[in-house]
Amino acid sequence: MYTQEIINDFIIRIPKAELHMHLEGSIEPKMMFKLAERNKIKLRWESPEALREAYHFNNLQSFLDLLFEGCNVLRTEQDFYDVTEAYLNRVKLDGVRHAEAFIGPQSFLQNGVPIDVVMNGVIQALKDAEKTTGITTGFLISAHRHRTEAAAFELLELIMPWRDQLVGLGMGGAEVGNPPSKFQQYFKECHARGFNLTIHAGEEGPTEYVREAINLLGVDRIDHGNTAMRDPELLQQLSDKQIALTMCPVSNLLLNVITDLSEHPLRIMLQKNIPVTINSDDPSYFNAYVAENWIQSQMKLSLTFEEMIQLAKNSFQGSFLPLPRKAQYITEIENFCLDFFRRDIRAN
Ligand code: ADE
Ligand code: ZN
Repeated sequence: MYTQEIINDFIIRIPKAELHMHLEGSIEPKMMFKLAERNKIKLRWESPEALREAYHFNNLQSFLDLLFEGCNVLRTEQDFYDVTEAYLNRVKLDGVRHAEAFIGPQSFLQNGVPIDVVMNGVIQALKDAEKTTGITTGFLISAHRHRTEAAAFELLELIMPWRDQLVGLGMGGAEVGNPPSKFQQYFKECHARGFNLTIHAGEEGPTEYVREAINLLGVDRIDHGNTAMRDPELLQQLSDKQIALTMCPVSNLLLNVITDLSEHPLRIMLQKNIPVTINSDDPSYFNAYVAENWIQSQMKLSLTFEEMIQLAKNSFQGSFLPLPRKAQYITEIENFCLDFFRRDIRAN
């Protein structure tokens, strides 16, 4: 009864939050060249098209190598501002009403970029774009798990002056061999300082890492969480505690976490009452912003309207927004659906 065109229109327009994206993973090839030119940095590709062609990955590490290389072009406050602004302007077109965005300052500090350049550039852009786009935002700092716990503690001290501008802290980077347990003291300290917490777990790493993230670190949500699928008890725990998973289907496909989107665990998890959400991770590198992740997932997993409405609600419920704001956005979803299906009845 519904054509794919109508389903896609529904997906693009339903109010949604994006909870798992890395600003450094949203630099489009054209922007990469613009920033490289501005900062007199020579890229090893001839053109934005050639750079886009290089976006083929075998696994997480091969992607991270390119991601960190790309971080080299960000040098000034204006650079961080431009990348953040471009992302928010783009996802406005995807029906995003709230975005929580990561940046990993360690990638820039190692190039000699001072922390205030990173923080002030992003924060100013988030503030300005909230006004121009109407999207509410949350800023998340991500520490690298392939570095030491001492390095994470150093980063924590560096960002404390911006504490009130942050919505939470996370952790990404090379997963296998760097379990959550490596950062137990760090997360304890972040928790003591009152931060909302999340960590990438169960993307390439084993089920055990998801269990550690919940039981040892006490995080509020999990980024990815795919390998929890292998453990029924853990699935029950995620459902009982209503711990949101910020899943990234196209990222998983392109990093060979799965071989086809039809294998993605998100639908089964949704059916088990786990608060799953759909996100883009690194939209430029995977050539898919959040709505495209929804569309491809819907097609390959045959997601129903009911399931998509649940996904949209989960995206706000799983956010770090205050409760009344979450409730407002959920009402927005309900009003959107009333209007969408009323129009649809009239049209038939
Ligand atoms: N940093 C950016 N994207 C990431 C991912 N998918 N996993 C781990 N770290 C990341
Ligand atoms: Zn990520």
